[in-house]
Amino acid sequence: METNKKVFSGVQPTGNVHLGNYLGAFRNWVALQDDYDAIYCIVDLHGMTVPYDPPEYRRTRLETAKVLLAIGVDPDRSLFYMQSQVPHHAELAWILGTITPTGVLNRMTQYKDKLATGAPANLGLYSYPVLMAADILLFRADLVPVGEDQKQHLEMTRDLAERFNNRFAEVFPIPEPLIPATAARVMSLTEPTAKMSKSDPADKSRILILDSADVIMKKVKSAVTDSEPTVRYDTEAKPGISNLLEIMAACTGRSIDDLVSEYHDAGYGRFKEAVAEAIIETLAPIKSAYERLDDREVARILQKGALDARTQAEVYQSEVRRAVGLDQM
Ligand code: TYM
Repeated sequence: METNKKVFSGVQPTGNVHLGNYLGAFRNWVALQDDYDAIYCIVDLHGMTVPYDPPEYRRTRLETAKVLLAIGVDPDRSLFYMQSQVPHHAELAWILGTITPTGVLNRMTQYKDKLATGAPANLGLYSYPVLMAADILLFRADLVPVGEDQKQHLEMTRDLAERFNNRFAEVFPIPEPLIPATAARVMSLTEPTAKMSKSDPADKSRILILDSADVIMKKVKSAVTDSEPTVRYDTEAKPGISNLLEIMAACTGRSIDDLVSEYHDAGYGRFKEAVAEAIIETLAPIKSAYERLDDREVARILQKGALDARTQAEVYQSEVRRAVGLDQM
């Protein structure tokens, strides 16, 4: 088995893949393929923890796979598959569940946030972070590229890995999160004190990876800002403008200071146009790569990924089964 350092990350295939997903996580996914053994998983068991429509889910699962391939996830260099096709994720989640105090789950802010937005309380949603820990620990990941909103789940994963190692045997490395310096938490365009999210009912709140140039321009132009007309970075007083500055910095590679000195007195209209253009330029190659993908070829890539992932997972999981006393008689 390989000895390189491992990267694992996942995305829920619930549709509306947006700029926050890209800048907060997927860009790092692509970059890390050069130096790590990368494992990227479409976590379709996680996506079922909120109400969904099965035929629509089939569509968004495939769409999510295509977006990731278009962004640059390379199945020749990375293990790329759907979580539901590798039953070891669910098995490890069960085992980890037996050492997860419910008190720890009660503190998870994402669970509370989801209930607050009307999601029905169910066991799957409640134990979501345990399945996420299983995803990460299954292949013994060292590094997990995610946006800032996943920090608490990562801390819980580290805690579970330590609990397991202390209780049974030194099986799991303790994984580190990798959170980008800029755009770790891209905010909603319509409500810039909340994060940009797939599930916000307002379409204008997010830029989709597959939005056309026209739509991107319109959405950015209608982004909520404030009435003081200078462009400067102040997340408390000017959350809308600060968000646009972060987005533009992440898209262009320029520093926020540099952007502020160029656009300080430019007026919001001109600044917003420049932000929209930077986004359009960043997303255009992804959109055209997406359009060139063939659905059947993508399905084949996923089938091969699942087969490879199952084979590798079986080897890793046998070590866990042995440690907990579930090895074959
Ligand atoms: P998900 O599907 O919500 O999002 C995928 C990735 O995008 C990041 N992200 C953001 N980054 C910056 N700004 C935003 N507004 C924003 N919104 C989302 C997320 O942090 C994430 O990295 N629980 C995970 C899925 C998961 C997972 C895992 C991740 C399941 N198992 C194992 C890593 C490792 C989630 O819901 O991501």
